[in-house]
Amino acid sequence: MPRHFPVIPPETIRRYDVAGPRYTSYPTAPEWTPAFGPEDHARSIWRAANESPDEPLSIYMHLPFCHSLCTFCGCNVIVSKDRNRPDQYIDLLFREMDLVTSLLGQRRTLSQIHWGGGTPTFLTEAQIDRLYKGIRDRFRILPDAEVSIEVHPGHTTLGQLDLLARLGFNRLSMGVQDFDPRVQDLIGRHQSIEQTELIVNHARGLGFTGINFDLIYGLPGQNTEAWGRTLEEVNRLRPDRLAVYSFAYLPTLRAQQRKIPLAELPLGPDKLGLLGQAHDAFVDRGYRPIGFDHFALPGDGLVRALNARTVGRNFQGFTVTAAPDTVAFGITGISDVAGAYAQNVRKPSEYKEALEAGRLPVERGLALTDDDKRRRRWINQLLCNDWLRLERQELGFLSDELGDLERREEEGLIERNWLTDGALDITLTDLGRVFARHVAMVFDNRLRARQGSDRPLYSKAV
Ligand SMILES: C[S@@+](CC[C@H](N)C(=O)[O-])C[C@H]1O[C@@H](n2cnc3c(N)ncnc32)[C@H](O)[C@@H]1O
Ligand code: SF4
Repeated sequence: MPRHFPVIPPETIRRYDVAGPRYTSYPTAPEWTPAFGPEDHARSIWRAANESPDEPLSIYMHLPFCHSLCTFCGCNVIVSKDRNRPDQYIDLLFREMDLVTSLLGQRRTLSQIHWGGGTPTFLTEAQIDRLYKGIRDRFRILPDAEVSIEVHPGHTTLGQLDLLARLGFNRLSMGVQDFDPRVQDLIGRHQSIEQTELIVNHARGLGFTGINFDLIYGLPGQNTEAWGRTLEEVNRLRPDRLAVYSFAYLPTLRAQQRKIPLAELPLGPDKLGLLGQAHDAFVDRGYRPIGFDHFALPGDGLVRALNARTVGRNFQGFTVTAAPDTVAFGITGISDVAGAYAQNVRKPSEYKEALEAGRLPVERGLALTDDDKRRRRWINQLLCNDWLRLERQELGFLSDELGDLERREEEGLIERNWLTDGALDITLTDLGRVFARHVAMVFDNRLRARQGSDRPLYSKAV
């Protein structure tokens, strides 16, 4: 377990600071296709229901509304001042749930519920109550289910938190990004330390656990000194979990990011230095790193799972157990059911049109091949647990990868260990944890197949 972030020479940073996938899924989203449509998704749900009728499910609700648009944001959001706007959207979520549950038959038990956004607390208390009860009417929620929500502390009331706790929500994730007022001006998002502290303390008092902060490094205006002050405040508030994301700067895809002055962006070694600073600030205060950019306190379930090498992940981040089948609702929601991804349409008008016609609002997706499933398991294992064991029989599926792994070892990213039973153990080094995506790329057959052809748009790795 590393005490301190490795010292990385600038030429090493330059070598790895290239565009690359983040592997929130494998195969990555650019591989998904419109050839996979609503009927395919319906078949996956039906198969999931019939093949494992007793397995619990996870559901994701995408609640895209925001009060204003933060200029750095890469999420799919609807900016509105109209607090009634979600009413009709909730009606459509109910229609979508009805379509899905008609296919699910008896498979209606939920072990995980996640509300993400956007800003789910854009919903009024009455809307939150109506949506949650709509879920409860259609599914059986296990008594120990993980029920989580993403909140923006600047737009969350204590009354909303009280209601969420009464309904059964028990996990909270909040956007913080950076407390520095100048950075907040540059990203068009204002949130005081006091507001954040109030929400954290109130949520703790209500019994929420696994309280998470999202921070971002690489934002405009960030520098060592101001970032150090943010990290100190975060350490003082001591959330159970931390996600420290690399700023994904994609101005061609996200028009609002074009407002960000380029000269203010910390890049390359400066940007990575901010991650290193955060890593050391948190590790020094007792946090354990999970992957290279997440941290958790020793008492948190994620750390226990890391010790047992059983950390899993889904589209919302790391999970304590392997993710069950996940059905997503709402615009752009991504389902992962019976070995297939399905993503919902982006436009609210198309979402409404599909549901009013009684059709699942799926825009694109992919049914994974056996090879995809194998590679997904390897990539997830590596990114979640810093370690991967390739069994002897699995090695037969590799060819060019073995040479690439040898090179990654020469570059100091991994250590390989051949076991007596013919299996190969791969462990990420401290340097390899920072550039884990580059090691994961070794197993990405689809990226390999695209080499030299049209490369999809990924953000830079550093
Ligand atoms: C969907 S947002 C919801 C959070 C909530 N609306 C808020 O702002 O507090 C989830 C997280 O995605 C991260 N995020 C959004 N845009 C990003 C970007 N361009 N690069 C890196 N992380 C980003 C932020 O850390 C944010 O807290
Ligand atoms: S960061 Fe959060 S509040 Fe800001 S636009 Fe994105 S989703 Fe909305």
